[in-house]
Amino acid sequence: MSKKELRIGLIGCGFMGRTHSNGYKRVSNFFPDLEYKPVLKAVCSRSEDKVKAFAEQWGYESYETDWKKLIAREDIDAVDICTPNNMHMEIAIAAAAAGKMVLCEKPLSRTLEEGEKMVAAVEANQVKNTIWYNYRRLPAVTLAKQIVDSGKLGKIFHYRTNFLQDWTINENLPQGGAAFWRMDAEAAGSGVTGDLLAHCIDLAMWLNGGIKDVSAMTEIFVKQRMHEETGKMEDVKIDDACLFHCHFDNGSLGLFESTRYARGHKALFTFEINGEKGSLKWDLHDLNRLEYFNNSDEGIVKGWRSIHVTDGDQPYMDKWWVPGLSIGYEHSFVHQVADFLQSVENGEECHPTFRDALETQKVCEAVINSAKNRKWEDTDVDWKNK
Ligand SMILES: NC(=O)c1ccc[n+]([C@@H]2O[C@H](COP(=O)([O-])OP(=O)(O)OC[C@H]3O[C@@H](n4cnc5c(N)ncnc54)[C@H](O)[C@@H]3O)[C@@H](O)[C@H]2O)c1
Repeated sequence: MSKKELRIGLIGCGFMGRTHSNGYKRVSNFFPDLEYKPVLKAVCSRSEDKVKAFAEQWGYESYETDWKKLIAREDIDAVDICTPNNMHMEIAIAAAAAGKMVLCEKPLSRTLEEGEKMVAAVEANQVKNTIWYNYRRLPAVTLAKQIVDSGKLGKIFHYRTNFLQDWTINENLPQGGAAFWRMDAEAAGSGVTGDLLAHCIDLAMWLNGGIKDVSAMTEIFVKQRMHEETGKMEDVKIDDACLFHCHFDNGSLGLFESTRYARGHKALFTFEINGEKGSLKWDLHDLNRLEYFNNSDEGIVKGWRSIHVTDGDQPYMDKWWVPGLSIGYEHSFVHQVADFLQSVENGEECHPTFRDALETQKVCEAVINSAKNRKWEDTDVDWKNK
């Protein structure tokens, strides 16, 4: 069967540029039944040397150094935004106005206000859109969603999650510039809240429903750092660490923690859900495994089961190897591309859409405001199984 082409224009060729390119390149091999195949039409970054080398390495047909030129091209169907957060809004709005589909990295935006404009743009122009909250598409996490939705856990009481790193403990690291844009509030919007907790929040609401209100605390451990652009010591304005607790719409309690100051942790991302009939827990470091406790198991064998999510009956795994063999982090991006192409084929939405991701943005904003104002904040989240 000859496939229809979805011509991709990717902007930003750093970490995420690589994961997405890998997703586009692999998807047709492993999801052969899809009607569409992605074509790596063009990639864009500001440095010509860098973008040329990236295009050659990953097999893009062409490159641009100005994202506006990429968006103006008639041979691009979908624009994929892999730039730092301060560029998401401008590029997404321009791409939507040009009638392109838009795939955008998380977080949706730096602020709720920016996110609202982005949602308005994709909806007014009726262009297909999605946000790369890719952890939803790891098989063990998707299985967690199926187990929760099946009612096997019963009424949920607790949801706890964390995302811990240690890469900013060194007080001599600068803020801003190409390598350290995450340390610069202007480029990033927030610190760990938008960068790491946004993933935790997206998964938490996908698995356990809307977050109603939050009470948060944030900390900046190193108060000043040299700014790469000005060459001066300047106040650090991003949150280095953030803790919050919350009420979910379903009556359960949530506990969230994120920091870049947890010595020894590079990317510890975990969640645990405790329900009346059972519990689940997951850890990114062992990403194919889901721990499940079923309270109706027979007494003598009752205990936590460790499910190695690699069987063909389990989410996405019929597309990969034989049962028992693992897949990795990068496969979550292949799965998101596959689901996006499927959604183009059947005309359905590819969740999380911009509108879904706006709900996560509402929680992030409420968290930052709660920490600043030292009080509980309502989120105004309207979550309907997004
Ligand atoms: N889904 C995830 O798990 C995940 C993980 C990491 C990063 N991200 C998100 O992906 C985005 C990019 O992060 P990253 O880690 O890939 O960053 P990065 O610094 O590795 O790469 C950013 C790229 O954008 C390019 N760029 C910056 N400004 C540009 C402009 N005006 N025009 C064209 N190119 C421009 C840079 O040159 C660089 O190639 C961020 O929004 C981040 O939050 C998501």
